[in-house]
Amino acid sequence: MNLAADDAILTADAIGKTFGRGTRANVAVQPTNVSFRRGRSIGIAGESGSGKSTLLRLLLGLEAPTAGAVRFEGMPIASLTRAEHRRYRATVQAVFQDPGGSLDPRLHIWQLITEPAWATGGLTRRSRRELAARLLHEVDLPERFADRLPHQLSGGERQRVAIARAVSSSPQLVLLDEPVTSLDVSVRGAIINLLADRGAELTYAVVSHDLTVIAHLTDELLIMYQGFVVERGPTDAILDAPRHPYSQALVAAVHDPLHDTGYDSDVPAGAGACPFINRCPFAMEQCVVMPDPVGQIHQVRCHLYSPDDGEDTTRGAPPLGSSDPIASTVNVTGAHQ
Ligand SMILES: Nc1ncnc2c1ncn2[C@@H]1O[C@H](COP(=O)(O)OP(=O)(O)OP(=O)(O)O)[C@@H](O)[C@H]1O
Ligand SMILES: [Mg+2]
Repeated sequence: MNLAADDAILTADAIGKTFGRGTRANVAVQPTNVSFRRGRSIGIAGESGSGKSTLLRLLLGLEAPTAGAVRFEGMPIASLTRAEHRRYRATVQAVFQDPGGSLDPRLHIWQLITEPAWATGGLTRRSRRELAARLLHEVDLPERFADRLPHQLSGGERQRVAIARAVSSSPQLVLLDEPVTSLDVSVRGAIINLLADRGAELTYAVVSHDLTVIAHLTDELLIMYQGFVVERGPTDAILDAPRHPYSQALVAAVHDPLHDTGYDSDVPAGAGACPFINRCPFAMEQCVVMPDPVGQIHQVRCHLYSPDDGEDTTRGAPPLGSSDPIASTVNVTGAHQ
């Protein structure tokens, strides 16, 4: 197996996505590096439309990047051989926000939850039924649900089915897009605990509006704003002391859901400006140019921070869009080595 030198499960090198062209171009994800290493789960937070789902879809190969590449075992996923692609599908799984939409309504639960494992080959019908029973047990659903159809389950039960399905092929990386947002608060905790319990053997990418979900499940955090990763670093460090004014507003909103920066600055925004410029209470002239990241372990893209702010804020940190994947991902994924 030709694993990348940094032993990453999946690596995104300067990956970006622009929808449309010319004056209608919309940069959903600015070139960004992300590297998933075993045991280092990564959260992605940011307001609606900031590019979180697009980033996950790029990692899953559901969306073709307009910049950079996603690599599995060192190879761009667009050029995997059939056998490599099968391995990639078994290694990287996803759970989407609305499990109803991603479960084929005509298939029985036992078929649905064993499909990814079955697709990798080597399962007899009998071993498939046995695997279904074991997976149902793992997600705390009764074995008799095996012969039901998705519409005969509640939303929370369907989400458990989606999780069972995602882990059926013993993946290494599971991408979770708002895994509990559509669920009643009474079942959210149970689902989060279920995911946290599997956290030892699984690595997650978790998109959530709910920072408590991110805090429970992730080690590293990316904060996105209009396609830019404006801050990244250890989840605890960012949630304890967010640096970017947008991150500060996001974290403050946990305690005060109506919180708004309330700001509408008159600094002219233009191409190349910090995207937060018009909502930022600290906007200043320099902000017409988006700065490079400052910091090593905890990085922020904001002119309020300078290399002299402390040992963890050295300019010279590789830019998020740098084409050197190892140098620029080590800050996030190798933070505690
Ligand atoms: N297929 C598409 N065609 C054109 N634009 C798209 C497409 N998919 C997403 N976009 C745009 O890309 C941007 C990022 O969308 P994305 O779905 O990644 O946001 P998000 O952060 O997941 O938001 P939410 O929290 O609402 O789910 C948005 O401006 C969206 O309108
Ligand atoms: Mg989304």
